[in-house]
Amino acid sequence: MKTLLSSWMLLLTVLSFVSCERVLFPVPAEGLGTSVDTTLKDFMPFPFGAAINMTRTDTQPLYKATVEREYNSLTSEGAMKMRSIRPAIDSFYFAGADRIVDFAELNGMRMHGHTLVWAAIPDWLRDFPGDSTAWEQILKNHIQTVVTHYKGRVASWDVVNEAIADNGTIRQNIWYQKLGPGYIARSFQYAHEADSAALLFYNDYGHEYSSARRNGINSLLRSLLADSVPVHGIGLQMHTNINIHPNALRVAIDSAAATGLLVHISELDISVNRTNDPNYVLTPAVEADQAELFRVIAEKYASLPSSQQFGITTWNVGDLDTWRRPTYGFPDFPLPFDVDYNRKLAYYALIEGAN
Ligand code: G3I
Repeated sequence: MKTLLSSWMLLLTVLSFVSCERVLFPVPAEGLGTSVDTTLKDFMPFPFGAAINMTRTDTQPLYKATVEREYNSLTSEGAMKMRSIRPAIDSFYFAGADRIVDFAELNGMRMHGHTLVWAAIPDWLRDFPGDSTAWEQILKNHIQTVVTHYKGRVASWDVVNEAIADNGTIRQNIWYQKLGPGYIARSFQYAHEADSAALLFYNDYGHEYSSARRNGINSLLRSLLADSVPVHGIGLQMHTNINIHPNALRVAIDSAAATGLLVHISELDISVNRTNDPNYVLTPAVEADQAELFRVIAEKYASLPSSQQFGITTWNVGDLDTWRRPTYGFPDFPLPFDVDYNRKLAYYALIEGAN
C-alpha cells in the first residue's frame, strides 16, 4: 500500500509542500486531485464512508459524482430516522430510505443504517398517551419492521443512539421515562431477532472531550456484553473541532477498542469556526491544522486490530453539506472536501495517516 501510495503521489501529483508549525503534507497541483480515479475507497485500508442524503445526490451532480467515486460505505443522514420513516403509528414510509439503499447497491457500497432508537422521535409519538406496554410494543414493532424491511440489504445498524447523559449515566430521554433503562438491551435483542446477521452498534458522542461520557458509554457497553446482549460495535460520532488535543482523539479510539467491539468512527467532522464568525474564511494554516487532526484519527484508527476496524464515516461529503451550517447558522468547513468538492488537505492527510 505504501508503494502504491508513493507511486500515485509521484506520478499523478506535483508535489508542492504546504507547511505550518505542526504539519507537512504533499499537495497536488490544482485540478489534478479531482481528475485521478484512484480514491479514498482504494487507499484506505478499511471501509471509508459518508452519511448522505438523496436530496443532494438529486440536485448536485458534483456531490453525486464524489460519493460514487470516493466511498465504499454509506450511512443515511436522515432518511432512516424514526421521524422520517414512521410518519404515523400505523404507517411506515420507506421510499426515501429505499433510494439510498438502492444507490448503495448500484455502486457496490456497504449500507449502514442510522438509527433505530433515538430521543428525536416524531411528534405523534411524543403525544402518544399509551402505557408502558403500548410504548414497548411501539419500540419492538418499529425496530423489527424496519430491520426486517432491510434484511440482507443493510449490513449494520446504529440500534440505539445517544443514550448516555453528560454525567455518564443513562440519559433520561423519552424511552427511559416510558420504559426504564432496560429499553437499551431490549432494543438490541429486538433487532437481533429480526436479522441475526446484522451487526448492531451503540452510537454516541463526546468520547474525545469528556471522560464522564467516555467512561459512561464504555461501562454501558461492558455491562451489555456481560449480560450477553447482542451488541457488536461501538460508534464514536466524533463531531469534533480544531481545538481538540490529538491525544484526546487517541484516547477516545483506544478506550473504545478496549471493549473488544467493532469500532466505527461514525459521524466524523472537524469544525473550524469556533467563534461563530459570520464572515469566517478558512485560511491555509487552519486547513493544515485541521488536516493534521484528520491524520491523527486515521493513523490511530489504522493501528487497531483489523478485526475491529468497521471503518470511518464522515458526516456528509463537502463543506457545503455539513449539518453545522443550517444548525448553527454560521459558515464552517469541517469535511475533507471543500464547497466545490475539491479535495482538501484533510483528504490527503486521511490517506497518509491510515497508511
Ligand atoms: O426535511 C425538512 C424540510 O422539509 C424543511 O423545510 C426543513 C426546515 O427546517 O427541515 C428539513 O428537515 C431537517 C432535516 O435535518 C433534513 O435536512 C430538520 O429540520 C433538521 O432538524 C434535520 O437535522 C438533522 C439532525 O440530525 C436531526 O435529525 C441533520 O441533518 C443531521 O445531520 C443530524 O445528524 C445527527 C445524527 O443523526 C446524530 N448525531 C448528531 C448528528 C448531528 O446533529
